[in-house]
Amino acid sequence: MVGLPARGKSTIARKLRENLSRDHIICRIFNNGQLRRRIRGQDTTSPEFYHPDNKAGVQLRERIALTNLDRARRFLENGGHVAIIDATNVSLKRREKIRSFMDRCDILFIECVNDDEEILEASIRHKANLPEFRGLSAQMAIESFKRRIQYYKSIYTPMENEDNFVKLDSLNNRILREEISGEIPYYDLIRDFLVTDSVKNLYLIRHGETYFNLENRIGGDSSLTSNGVKQAEALAKYFKKKNIPFIFTSKKKRTIQTAEPIQRLQASCTIVPLEEFNEIDSGVCECMSYEEIRAQMPEVYYARKQDKYNYVYPGGEGYVTMKERVDRGIKKALFLSGGAENIMIVGHRAVNRMILSHFLYRRTEDVPYIYIPQDKFYHIVATQYKKLFQLKPY
Ligand code: F6P
Repeated sequence: MVGLPARGKSTIARKLRENLSRDHIICRIFNNGQLRRRIRGQDTTSPEFYHPDNKAGVQLRERIALTNLDRARRFLENGGHVAIIDATNVSLKRREKIRSFMDRCDILFIECVNDDEEILEASIRHKANLPEFRGLSAQMAIESFKRRIQYYKSIYTPMENEDNFVKLDSLNNRILREEISGEIPYYDLIRDFLVTDSVKNLYLIRHGETYFNLENRIGGDSSLTSNGVKQAEALAKYFKKKNIPFIFTSKKKRTIQTAEPIQRLQASCTIVPLEEFNEIDSGVCECMSYEEIRAQMPEVYYARKQDKYNYVYPGGEGYVTMKERVDRGIKKALFLSGGAENIMIVGHRAVNRMILSHFLYRRTEDVPYIYIPQDKFYHIVATQYKKLFQLKPY
């Protein structure tokens, strides 16, 4: 792996190992950071440890890199098929070392890039919670990690003229550049994996009943009714035994209020409200009921009926214009959850239709009619090996 910290390398490494193992390919990850933490613990947390002029730091990191390379080489000599060296490997010098040390192996460099500021911030915030930063305030941990990244940036030479590499936009699973000059074993499988949006278990839930739902009103920021709270509590019980590390919601009260009881019954669970999952903005029709729209703005009502997917509310959105932001929310959620076994999204009717259609092919004209009840949820599995959609009562 190649790339600056917080670019999704370890997540990709872990998922790649799982995928290869399914095909009985014997694969192991050699993670330099883990080894560093195991042998030196907290005293390598300071950003100055990563300063390129800090001789002791450089030496220790070189020693760790060589230890892992040595272990990887022995693993491959003893029947292993694929060794993943999970480290930044951002300098030319380091990559030279890998090549000379592993000169009898086929080497593929997978460079992960992602400069999306918002995602980086969120993933750095998440890193700041790691045990490595225990003892620092959240703000100090974030600063410290950012300084560490700067030091890595100062020695970073992106992949350019080297043999056998792929440059991957790790947020969008898109290959930006691909230079394969030799025969890389399992490359077809690896490539396909890299471009697959994979999610092991996604629980897609619609918020519980709101006061606006009772009146058939759209948009707004209404709260859950007591029935809606009961639905959220029932969901919480249903998911109690599953480990849900992240619940992504919109910024609206109704989705957060649905997520809170679920979070309470989990050992460790973070609610991450994302604007991208806000319900369709119905512009001039916000907070109106469908009956009011038909009576007061028949032109809006009938034009939407005519072509619901492409219709854009005056001053608001349509399904067609929501697509980009919802897709972006999905990418964010998948990236931030780092390959977790289970993730949950609590969204809204239109948003959940868009999320479902991201994973499940539907003609666009049918998307605005996908069934999104409040007393059932969708369980989605989408990996290179399995696609599953199940509507389940709770
Ligand atoms: O339940 C109401 C709601 O979530 C509204 O806020 C939103 O405008 C609507 O559903 C979306 O559904 P449709 O596109 O079928 O009007």
